[in-house]
Amino acid sequence: MAPRHFISLLDFSGDELRDLIAHAIEVKRELKKGIEHRPLAGKLLAMIFEKSSTRTRVSFEAGMFQLGGHAMFLSPRDSHLGRGEPIEDSARVISSMVDGILVRTFGHDRVETLARHSSVPVINGLSDLLHPCQLLADMQTWFELRGDIGGATVAWIGDGNNMCHSYINAAVRFGFRLNIACPDGHAPEPAIVDAGGDAIRLCGSAAEAARDADLVVTDVWASMGQEEELEARTRIFAAYQVDRELMALAGADALFMHCLPAHRGEEVSADVLDGAQSVVWQEAENRLHAQKALLERLLGGIV
Ligand code: CP
Ligand code: NVA
Repeated sequence: MAPRHFISLLDFSGDELRDLIAHAIEVKRELKKGIEHRPLAGKLLAMIFEKSSTRTRVSFEAGMFQLGGHAMFLSPRDSHLGRGEPIEDSARVISSMVDGILVRTFGHDRVETLARHSSVPVINGLSDLLHPCQLLADMQTWFELRGDIGGATVAWIGDGNNMCHSYINAAVRFGFRLNIACPDGHAPEPAIVDAGGDAIRLCGSAAEAARDADLVVTDVWASMGQEEELEARTRIFAAYQVDRELMALAGADALFMHCLPAHRGEEVSADVLDGAQSVVWQEAENRLHAQKALLERLLGGIV
C-alpha cells in the first residue's frame, strides 16, 4: 500500500487536521506535565535539508527524540543529493532504511518526486510552493487562544509565497475567510487561489485586507533563494509593512502571526512583532507539538 504523505495541507481532510491539532494540544499538555510519551521507539526519521532552517530542524529532531525515536540530518553538502544523484534513486535507497522522510527543498516537484518513489511517508518541511507544517502550528496557536478558526477572518499581507499558498489551503480546510494583499506581480499562484474559491478575497491594499480581521499574518519579503532580490523587493513591498497603524484597522483583539525568521522594520515593525497582539513565540514553539502529532499519525499510525 502506498504510504500516506504530508506534502500539502490538502492531503488531509478538515476533520483529520482538527483531530491532529487536538492531539497536538494534548501532547503539549503531557510534555509540560513531564509525562513520557514514546510511541515512536525504534523509529527513524531522515531529514533532508537543501535550505537553511532553525525551527523546522530543531522541532523535528526534538520531536522524534521526545517520541522515543531518532532523527538523522542529511544535507546536500555531505550526501550524494548535492552531487547529482537523482532524487528518485535517493528516495528508494533512503526509504528502504528509515520510517519517514522530512524534506526541505526548492522546487515543489522535488518533494513530489521524492514522495512518489518513497516507500515511507514524506513530510514537506517547506518548498518554494508550500509550507504546510507551519500551518499546523499556526492553527494550533489559534485554537489554543481563540477556539475553532472556522468563520474567522484572516488577513495575509505581503508576498504571495509558500506561506500564503498554505494559508489559502488552510482557509479551504478550516473554513475561514482569507483576505490577501500583495503588490502587483507578487500575487499567489492563480491555480491555488482558484482552488480557494469563495474563501479567498484578493484585496487592493494592505488596509483593505486588514480591516476587521481577527488574525493578521505576514512573512519575509524575500524568501530563501530570493536573497539577491531583497533590495528591489524592499521598494516594491514598502506599503505592505504590518505596523501599528495597520493593526489598528484589524479587530480590537486581533492576533498577529509570523512564521519567523522576521525582519523588524521590513515586513513587520518591531512594536508589532514584540507587542501584545503578537503570538509568534507560542506559534514557533507549537511547531514542536503539532509536528509530534503529525509524526505519530504518519510514522506510528496513531491519532
Ligand atoms: N518558520 C520556519 O520554518 O522556520 P525555519 O526556517 O527556521 O525552519
Ligand atoms: N517564505 C519563507 C518562509 C521561511 C520559513 C521562505 O521560504 O524562506
